[in-house]
Amino acid sequence: MPTPRTDRAPARLVVLVSGGGTNLQALLDATADPAYGARVVAVGADRDGIEGLARADKADVPTFVARVKDYTSREHWDHALADKVAAFDPDLVVLAGFMKLVGPDFIARYGGRTVNTHPALSPSFPGMHGPADALAYGVKVTGCTLFVVDAGVDTGPIVAQSAVPVLDDDSVDTLHERIKVAERAMLTEFVGRMAREGFTITDRKVRFGTP
Ligand code: GAR
Repeated sequence: MPTPRTDRAPARLVVLVSGGGTNLQALLDATADPAYGARVVAVGADRDGIEGLARADKADVPTFVARVKDYTSREHWDHALADKVAAFDPDLVVLAGFMKLVGPDFIARYGGRTVNTHPALSPSFPGMHGPADALAYGVKVTGCTLFVVDAGVDTGPIVAQSAVPVLDDDSVDTLHERIKVAERAMLTEFVGRMAREGFTITDRKVRFGTP
């Protein structure tokens, strides 16, 4: 969604989740304020029975599920996922703890307006185990990154980052929980800005506002 809607209608967010959905909840809470400039119009998941879907249901937000195993190939799943997202006509797609890589078809349709939140400071520790990898490496500072999704693994243009300390007695869980506190604040602040101000991407640099 490079430019804000001229009619000032709230931007339409579709949020994809795979688990507990605390980042989704932060967005649901933030979007309850009309001044936020966006609303969650649907929540999708790659699996059933997760807390993230229950949170959406509780907030009266429609849900959908696209499971890889229900399709004959990863490409068919990717196409179906993009179709399910398209049914809700989003301005911005937010991957909030979505533990699948979206594929070429999805990116062809929603590239440039899909963001993902990753629990590490990119380009360090990409992939599924950001907090564990940071802890194992012994870094003293880690954090979270909001980025515009591209074809790589956590490689897209960076919208925002937030740093958190790694403490001597951290476990993966305590570190990840500390990251998630920063992540929820980052996600709500910067998705709101993307919705209200619009943004451009030039040479990997994400800037707010219209050109
Ligand atoms: C978040 O920390 C998010 O960055 C991470 O999963 C967590 C979801 O928490 N995503 C990834 O690691 C994606 N590679 P939540 O379900 O409580 O929002």
